[in-house]
Amino acid sequence: VSQKKKRIIAFSQCIGNDAWRQTMLEEMKRELSFNPDIEFLYRDAHGNNALQIDQIRELAKADIDLLIVSPNEAEPLTPIVDSIYQLHIPVIVTDRKTSSGQYNAYVGADNLAIGKLAGQYSQTVLPGKGKVGLVTGLSGTSASIEREKGFKQSILAASGMQISSIIHGGWEKNTAYAETRKHISQMAQCDVIFTFNDQMAMGVKKALDEAQSKKDIKIIGVDALPGPGNGLEQIMQGHMYASMLYPTGGTEAIRIALAIINNQPYKRENILATSVIDKTNAELLALQSHKIQQQQIDIDKRQEFITEQNRIYQNQKSVLNVLVVS
Ligand code: FRU
Repeated sequence: VSQKKKRIIAFSQCIGNDAWRQTMLEEMKRELSFNPDIEFLYRDAHGNNALQIDQIRELAKADIDLLIVSPNEAEPLTPIVDSIYQLHIPVIVTDRKTSSGQYNAYVGADNLAIGKLAGQYSQTVLPGKGKVGLVTGLSGTSASIEREKGFKQSILAASGMQISSIIHGGWEKNTAYAETRKHISQMAQCDVIFTFNDQMAMGVKKALDEAQSKKDIKIIGVDALPGPGNGLEQIMQGHMYASMLYPTGGTEAIRIALAIINNQPYKRENILATSVIDKTNAELLALQSHKIQQQQIDIDKRQEFITEQNRIYQNQKSVLNVLVVS
């Protein structure tokens, strides 16, 4: 009897070691645990374009049924992702984008809208006028390009607001810290600093604290993750003023992947909701996240229990078979 091969969903992650992307992976694995008939192949490119290209090429050789990809930088990753799509292997692009639009589905929040939202929020916290600093992510990433564009659009529309400095933090706390130190005199004069993620916000904060900057600079980030040391906690502790919620979309990506490989209907654009998190709602969100986490631990335990019961049942069945046959 020919055994039907397990269907394979592959995921190529641009950089896997930060809390946001670990959350994304956890969400994916949880959703996959309800579908044990699917094999999952995961590759982490450690923020390296060339490595991600190689990994995608390797995955394609593994007879995968679908590719989920969060491209490191858009331009260098576009040809390889396009070639997968042209092989008729379904492609889901998540969080960051390629440059061509050749994919079956996109999952992620709207980064242009996030930039605009951060710009509008900055205007509500500044008394009519003020200086704004920007700390961008890695320059070739669509998330950074779009957040910058959206923020500038809303700030330029406002009179009295001035973008006084732009530094490049490469999405990383350490880079943001080093760059803030390098440009400390300009950065310390800002009223608001919009850093394109919360990790970089922590680097900026550290540099400002070390410079003993007296000014009450309001740092606004993106991600608003729960958990120790992450955005929500930073807001509650007053280190960050606000953050734009940026859902990881891990659960949604797997759901769409399953719909595609099962020939069920799905949408091409799957835009996840975002909102402003500041000290008025951070605690509530943290509590909700905690509750969901507890429930998920509970689900995981039950899942383990079911798997174990299944194993025992299968064992007994085979023992019984042996007895009946002999
Ligand atoms: C994580 C991250 C997030 C950010 C996103 C942008 O690797 O830097 O903090 O919101 O990627 O793609």
